[in-house]
Order: sequence, then C-alpha cells, then structure tokens
Amino acid sequence: MKILKNEKIRENVFLLVVEDKKIASTAKPGQFVQVKLNNPSPFILRRPFSIHCVEESTFHILYKVVGEGTKVLSAYTPDNEIDILGPLGNGFELNKDETSNYYKNVLLVAGGIGIAPLYFVAKKIQESGGTVNTLIGAANKNEILCKENFEKLGTVNTSTEDGSDGIKGLVTDLLKDAPKPEIMFACGPAPMLKAIQSYASTHFIPCQLSLEQYMACGIGICLGCAVPIKNGYKYVCKDGPVFWSDEVKL
Ligand SMILES: Cc1cc2nc3c(=O)[nH]c(=O)nc-3n(C[C@H](O)[C@H](O)[C@H](O)COP(=O)(O)OP(=O)(O)OC[C@H]3O[C@@H](n4cnc5c(N)ncnc54)[C@H](O)[C@@H]3O)c2cc1C
Ligand code: FES
Repeated sequence: MKILKNEKIRENVFLLVVEDKKIASTAKPGQFVQVKLNNPSPFILRRPFSIHCVEESTFHILYKVVGEGTKVLSAYTPDNEIDILGPLGNGFELNKDETSNYYKNVLLVAGGIGIAPLYFVAKKIQESGGTVNTLIGAANKNEILCKENFEKLGTVNTSTEDGSDGIKGLVTDLLKDAPKPEIMFACGPAPMLKAIQSYASTHFIPCQLSLEQYMACGIGICLGCAVPIKNGYKYVCKDGPVFWSDEVKL
C-alpha cells in the first residue's frame, strides 16, 4: 500500500495516511489493521492499530511511539510502501436495532491514545444526525489529542492529571456532569475501562469498550489475545476488539 502522509502531530504522536480503496470502503469504526514493519528485516509480529477514520480512498492511523515498532513506523515516508492487513475485528455496534438506525445520543470516553478509534465513530454518528459528546482524559495537555476535530462534531470536555487542560483529575471525574447518553463508547487504559464499566452498570447505560490487548497473529489463530468473559474466554482480535461492557471481566 502507498503511504500518502506520515505526519508528526505532537511529541511522539503521528498521523499515518495510507491509500487503499478496499479498506477505505469497507472499514467500520472500531476495526483495526495489522501493520508489518521492517527494520531492515521484518519484525516477527505485525503491530495492531485502530482505523482512525477513512476519507475517500484513504484510511488514517493515529499512533503513539512507545517502542521499537512504532519508532520504525514513525520514520516511514511517503516514498515507502507498507504492508497492512485489514480491516480486522468486529468494530463498534452503532446500530440501535435491526433497523440500521444509528444511536442518536452518544457519549465517547477516551483515555490518551484511546481517542484513536473514536473519531471514526464520532463522524458516523454526526453524519447520521446524532449528538456526540466526548470526554478526553490524558496525563497532560500535550497528550490531549484531536480535541479540535471532535469539537467540530459536538461538545468536548477534557481532564488532565496535571490540570494543564480541562479539569484536574481523571476522565471518569467528568462523567458526573456529562448529559446522560443513550449509549457510551470507550477506549483507553484498562483501569479507565474498568471505571467506565462500573459507571455504565450503575447508571444502566449500554456501553461498548474497545480493548487494546497484546496481539500476535491478529486473526484468531494463535489464541494469544484471550480475555475472560462472563462464561469463558473470547479473543480480542477475532471476537473484539469491541465488547459490550457487561460481557467482559476486566
Ligand atoms: C486492537 C488494537 C488497536 C490499537 N490501536 C492503536 C492505535 O490506534 N494507536 C496506537 O498508538 N496504538 C494502538 N494500539 C497499541 C499498539 O498496537 C502498540 O502500541 C504497538 O503494537 C507497540 O509496538 P512497539 O513495537 O512500538 O512497542 P513494543 O516494543 O512492542 O512495546 C513497547 C511498550 O508498549 C507496550 N505495548 C505494546 N503493545 C501494547 C498493547 N497492545 N497494549 C498496551 N500496551 C502495549 C509494551 O508493554 C511496552 O511497554 C492498539 C492495540 C490493539 C490491540
Ligand atoms: S492475536 Fe492471535 S488469536 Fe488473537
């Protein structure tokens, strides 16, 4: 696939734009891709990244440099070809019922780079005439990502651990003042998801969580991404990465 852009948007955060008609036309919000990286010989494992959004014949990946693979990815330029498998996984369930009507009043909750898959959700809900409220939490202002993009689609409230953007505290501290939604969609670190799960259950709000489990194959073969659910195990790559919050044990 052809890289059109690999732009640094913040310290250690990049936006990769890749041309691929098939992924751009078939991807659903919440799905992911597996990226093969070379340094100069290929890494054994592909790296999973959410589809941030699609535009015409391109799809976008928003990623944070955390280790060797993402460091190598950040050095790719539009001259490089890239080997990407996808779209993979189930994606968020945006339809309220079998009528193919989308939820109309949605609350998105993101922690750090967990914002990545939620932009695609926000765009779809807004395009269908729905209301999108977004809560973004991060360690500091530099790690509050995509705020302006979400503000174009609805309201945004932020929290930072050092108080440099929004309220000082955790994103879950914003929940008590958020308008009650029809459904919540969340992505972020495990402790945040656990708190969201508990909030959704206490307030009887349907909620879907996107999990970022370590992955190997990404296609349901290695069984390396199992997560416990109420009645056994499911695989994040094949059955997820999105799960109903009352289904998973976090
Ligand atoms: C379904 C899915 C979607 C994802 N979407 C995105 C995305 O849109 N943007 C993004 O920046 N990242 C995303 N991730 C996480 C991303 O896959 C990892 O950050 C990446 O694989 C790290 O590769 P690396 O070689 O740079 O780091 P490594 O050298 O492999 O690891 C460096 C550090 O990152 C931690 N790490 C590695 N993989 C994960 C993981 N899956 N979850 C939590 N911590 C991890 C390791 O513990 C280690 O501390 C997603 C993960 C999954 C499973
Ligand atoms: S990563 Fe191999 S089964 Fe999920």
